[in-house]
Amino acid sequence: MSKQVRFSIFSFKGGVGKSTIAYFLARNLSEKYRVLLVDRDYTNTIGKIFGLETGLINVISDGAEGRFITDEGNLRVLSLVSYFPSSLPSVKELAGVYSEILKGMEVVITDNPPGIDDIAGLEFKGYYEAVGEVHCNGFYVTAPGIALDLTLNHLGDIGRTMRNLVPRITYFRTAALIINMIRGNISEVLDNIRLRVPGVRVVGIPFYRDLLFQGFNRISTIPDMSELISVVEEIVTGGGG
Ligand SMILES: Nc1ncnc2c1ncn2[C@@H]1O[C@H](COP(=O)(O)OP(=O)(O)O)[C@@H](O)[C@H]1O
Ligand SMILES: [Mg+2]
Repeated sequence: MSKQVRFSIFSFKGGVGKSTIAYFLARNLSEKYRVLLVDRDYTNTIGKIFGLETGLINVISDGAEGRFITDEGNLRVLSLVSYFPSSLPSVKELAGVYSEILKGMEVVITDNPPGIDDIAGLEFKGYYEAVGEVHCNGFYVTAPGIALDLTLNHLGDIGRTMRNLVPRITYFRTAALIINMIRGNISEVLDNIRLRVPGVRVVGIPFYRDLLFQGFNRISTIPDMSELISVVEEIVTGGGG
């Protein structure tokens, strides 16, 4: 594997499992690769799980104190914001710090708020500035039903937004549409969805009652993400391109 490969976990609706998927995916991939997991969401779900007290942007803009980054073996976790900052740093300012954090990382996973906001946009620009290119393997997370309809109606929006943010983008691809929280017959549900999105890779994750009520960092049942992990492996071993 030669260059760094980025994956971004997106959705159009909150509460569909982005942070859960980002967390387990990062844990799994860090068994093989040096992984950076970037929390770009104001709720700071991932950062809090790893005991991070603040965000890099709060440190730059507001002089906040506390940890915003941590290393656990091959997994590095970075929290960008933990509360609304008084101002946003410039792209150059962020890129200066970010390039140090990105050094030696083989896989970068970003966990996002629903849609794309200012922080997600700034991170994307900062990455471009720090690395000299930016690409995106997007995972779109949805639950079946109304969230799915919304996702299918807006599938192209995020790619368009990302392309507008940077002068040049190496590529933007929808790596997979992830249908999370499936109850009942998974293959039947997925077959029906595949008919609606020809050409898009669709993977499913079952609904786990424990996961909903106990929080994803405390459960003993690891969600079955085997299909998703094989999509990631394919892209990573192919060098991302
Ligand atoms: N497959 C699943 N089955 C049951 N509960 C899930 C599943 N995936 C995620 N959850 C739960 O749903 C809630 C929202 O998940 P979260 O990852 O925070 O969503 P998002 O980041 O998209 O807002 C959490 O309580 C999480 O534990
Ligand atoms: Mg989240």
